[in-house]
Amino acid sequence: MTASDTHTTAPTAPHHPDPQAGTGEHTWSPGSWRGRPAAQQPHWPDPEELRRVENTLALQPPLVLPHEILDLRHSLAQVAAGQGFLLQAGDCAERFSSCTEAGVRSKLRVILQVAILLTYGSGLPVVKVGRIGGQFGKPRSRPTETIDGTELPVYRGDIVNGPEFTAEARRADATRLLRAYQHSSAALNVLRALTLGGYADLGQVHDWNQEFVRSSAAGQRYEKTADDITWALRFMSACGVDTRSQAALHQIQLYTSHEALLPHYEQALTRYDEKRRTWFDTSAHMVWIGDRTRQLDGAHVELLSGIGNPVGIKVGPTTTPRQLRELCERLDPDRAAGRLVLISRLGAGKGTDLLPPLLRAVRDAGHTPVWACDPMHGNTFVSDSGYKTRRLRDITAEVAEFFAAHRQEGLHPGGIHLELAGDDVTECLGGDLDEVLDTHLATRYETACDPRLNAVQSIELAFQVAKFLRELRHDQQ
Ligand code: PEP
Ligand code: CO
Repeated sequence: MTASDTHTTAPTAPHHPDPQAGTGEHTWSPGSWRGRPAAQQPHWPDPEELRRVENTLALQPPLVLPHEILDLRHSLAQVAAGQGFLLQAGDCAERFSSCTEAGVRSKLRVILQVAILLTYGSGLPVVKVGRIGGQFGKPRSRPTETIDGTELPVYRGDIVNGPEFTAEARRADATRLLRAYQHSSAALNVLRALTLGGYADLGQVHDWNQEFVRSSAAGQRYEKTADDITWALRFMSACGVDTRSQAALHQIQLYTSHEALLPHYEQALTRYDEKRRTWFDTSAHMVWIGDRTRQLDGAHVELLSGIGNPVGIKVGPTTTPRQLRELCERLDPDRAAGRLVLISRLGAGKGTDLLPPLLRAVRDAGHTPVWACDPMHGNTFVSDSGYKTRRLRDITAEVAEFFAAHRQEGLHPGGIHLELAGDDVTECLGGDLDEVLDTHLATRYETACDPRLNAVQSIELAFQVAKFLRELRHDQQ
């Protein structure tokens, strides 16, 4: 059995998003992307090994189940209708070595902090989706990297090769696809235990604040909100509400997501669900297409067009309203609520001009996506000290422009998409009183790819976004 016929025994996908479907020229299948150009792929030196790995992967259990994927779709539909807010956050590039209990816990902790500040500040339910449990593949701006006259293939994330600057590490290794599955599975196991088993309990809201955060201005402010929440819980108990029996106060649902960069991997985990007569990519609840792989006739769009998961599309500054309309048509032909998450990443200063025509184009074509703001990827630059970085000021400015553009068009600003670390890293510049300066970047610059907000900066941004959300709700009253 070969990789491409592994999945062809199941019936054809229920929807035929390809424009030529029905004409007999093209029908979607999990392997139909293979006939299309796939951007951002490594050169796999051993195609036989790649096929063996795909076949092994295709026999592994799914990482997530269809009913969970559909729950997320349902929640996203509510967000799109203005009844909630999406927080998608986590690492830029997860490392296999960080899929440990400590690694997962530290990311979860800051996601919980940001989520609770958004929930408390806005009074809206916050749908939580981690860039976690599979965010291993990275699109890159150049295929090779040259240091001191030596040119090697670029690091494309742990799912492809290693970051060390040696020919051996940089060789694309298909067995890493299997390791990605194993590490995702391990991370998910810890995640499920932590989110269901008390760590996410609202009674622990103070404990999520780590020592180094507590001593910062943002951390102090967080403590005050945590006090208020604790009092609100006591108040509810005093009123006779049995808070102990309310599962929603003691556990959370954190969905998983990653960029579907490597179609071989995603295909192997795409499974047919008999009950729902739909194909699902069971590698994560939500997958997205990056700004560099969103070609209308490309492999990534083809693969994701046939699955039932919520699908994200990164919308960069070169996206035209027409391109976006065509992409939405291709990925959401049924105009299904909860299907699309459009993630704008335009860069501070660009949203005011670029975003409104994009919002209108999608709305006028009848789609009801969640619009989310990724204020990270359009604001990256190299600082004087030579580090790839981002300014918290620019990040906040882009979010402000995102809210303003939605207000202007009468649409709901549905969410934010962040790259953050649970630790005290020094990768992004700024912060209110606990400012990270260019001279500090070398202290703890640990990212495998893009610069992430540290826990203090994340909390500071969360207060700002909560303020935008509160203003929005006041306007609506
Ligand atoms: C990312 O989300 O890590 C990323 C590379 O984003 P984009 O495709 O928007 O550049
Ligand atoms: Co990134």
